[in-house]
Amino acid sequence: MKLLVNIDHVATLRNARSEGVPDPVQAAIECEKAGAAGIVFHLREDRRHIKDADVYGLKKVVKGLLDFEMGATEEMIRICSEIKPHLCTLVPEKREEITTEGGLNMEAIFDDYKNRVLPKLKDAEIPVSLFVEPEPKDMKLCAKLGVPVVELHTGTYSNATGDQIKKELERLKEAATVAHDHGIQVNAGHGLNFENIRAFLDNIPHVEEISIGHALMADALFRGLPVSVREMVDIIESYNG
Ligand code: PXP
Repeated sequence: MKLLVNIDHVATLRNARSEGVPDPVQAAIECEKAGAAGIVFHLREDRRHIKDADVYGLKKVVKGLLDFEMGATEEMIRICSEIKPHLCTLVPEKREEITTEGGLNMEAIFDDYKNRVLPKLKDAEIPVSLFVEPEPKDMKLCAKLGVPVVELHTGTYSNATGDQIKKELERLKEAATVAHDHGIQVNAGHGLNFENIRAFLDNIPHVEEISIGHALMADALFRGLPVSVREMVDIIESYNG
């Protein structure tokens, strides 16, 4: 199991002033030095955090896995095809949302992804992951689309309290099992942090890559990015083999 660090919010802080710091590209270098297996970024249509120049900078420096998260617009497909990341994670994107609010609505996107989005990314030879709700029916639709990877949305688990936590873990476990049974790689992310990561890892099988951003950046403000990333890498890697 691998940790990929989402560095979007380094750009959020950088964009609060126009002085170029902190630099998300430098943050990516530090994350990898601290043991992260790769870097995730989300180039949003409104460029509210990561900017185009960051994407090209990241492509130059990232030595491990590079995961390009994006909405399935023609503009993003073009940029992604040029960058050729290790993985393109497709997410729903709404202008008014603060962060990605849920997984893709699989029924709604199915035909468009089948006929327009996935063929273009296939032509560019970029493996695709779909960010999805942990629902068996959605895993089956992903299998029908032939995508090699899914990212299970862990946001509902991360926000759950009391009895709900167990229910969400059950939901994630079932979805991970169904995806794996269909030969799909299982990734996961959203809202994971130092408090909820262990119960997630204790309960969910087959997960290969975990993407964490906000919680690591928040922790890093007080303890430093190398310390925060190293600690999360150690937790996640302690579950390997
Ligand atoms: N995975 C996806 C698809 C996301 O949209 C995000 C948020 O940008 C994350 C993972 C990381 O979530 P968080 O910042 O809450 O760790």
